[in-house]
Amino acid sequence: MKKQVLITGGTKGIGKAVALSLGKEGYNLILTYASDEDTAKNTCEEIRQLAQVDILLLKADITKQASVEDIYSYLTKKHLSLDAIVFNAGLTCRDSFENTQMEDWERVFFGNVHFPVFLLQRTLSLINKGGSIVFTGSAMGIYPHSVSLAYGVTKSAIHSLVKNLVKFLAPYEIRVNGIAPGFVDTEWQKNKPLEIRRNIEKKVALGRFCEPEELAEVYKMVIENSYLNGEIIVVDGGYSYK
Ligand SMILES: NC(=O)c1ccc[n+]([C@@H]2O[C@H](COP(=O)([O-])OP(=O)(O)OC[C@H]3O[C@@H](n4cnc5c(N)ncnc54)[C@H](OP(=O)(O)O)[C@@H]3O)[C@@H](O)[C@H]2O)c1
Repeated sequence: MKKQVLITGGTKGIGKAVALSLGKEGYNLILTYASDEDTAKNTCEEIRQLAQVDILLLKADITKQASVEDIYSYLTKKHLSLDAIVFNAGLTCRDSFENTQMEDWERVFFGNVHFPVFLLQRTLSLINKGGSIVFTGSAMGIYPHSVSLAYGVTKSAIHSLVKNLVKFLAPYEIRVNGIAPGFVDTEWQKNKPLEIRRNIEKKVALGRFCEPEELAEVYKMVIENSYLNGEIIVVDGGYSYK
């Protein structure tokens, strides 16, 4: 029987690359997105052309608590179990520290931290023994930066969550790891002004952004390797060395 993976934010950028990589490996895919249905459908078509797997698509905004139950009911109605979950969707708030409103701070915390925690809690009974959970953290949760305080703090929380979850998931024989990407050439980064992009490239030892496909190889390894547990794998092209 084919393995099944749920990927939040699996229709663009990093999530899409991970979906394609796991699809090629034979995983059936359940992909969630927030609002861009056209792109989501196109992504499914693209992956279907390249991998002979089942792909299910579900709209589920991580800023809404109801999405936890929506995803759970969708999986149970279809009698699906999971071999892996990639908690990948995330959000930021780039308002200055002085102008950050508490509701924006809470929205970033809810989407990046509370949502995956409670989705994991709700879907735990659907995850098969030997299953693997991967969280998308960020190098910005390791190195202090000056753009979004809420983003950096929530990604640090994700790294800590991964380590803390190990003992809670061990009785279920589920592994949990995190990946902390540096700067990956997705829409998230492509929308930044050229000058900022050049500044980023100057700080990376390899002198360039990461391609989503390069990163997806790491996700596949982390999901498949049966002894990796409680690790945060940093994939930043040598950001700290320059
Ligand atoms: N790109 C980077 O340099 C970088 C570096 C470190 C960490 N990360 C992390 O990697 C993850 C993915 O980033 P990305 O660069 O691949 O982004 P992206 O290319 O913008 O893709 C975002 C994906 O997430 C979905 N999404 C966005 N907001 C959502 C929401 N509120 N609820 C549910 N789904 C939502 C999008 O769906 P729609 O298309 O419908 O909006 C899309 O499928 C994030 O957690 C981000 O923090 C990115």
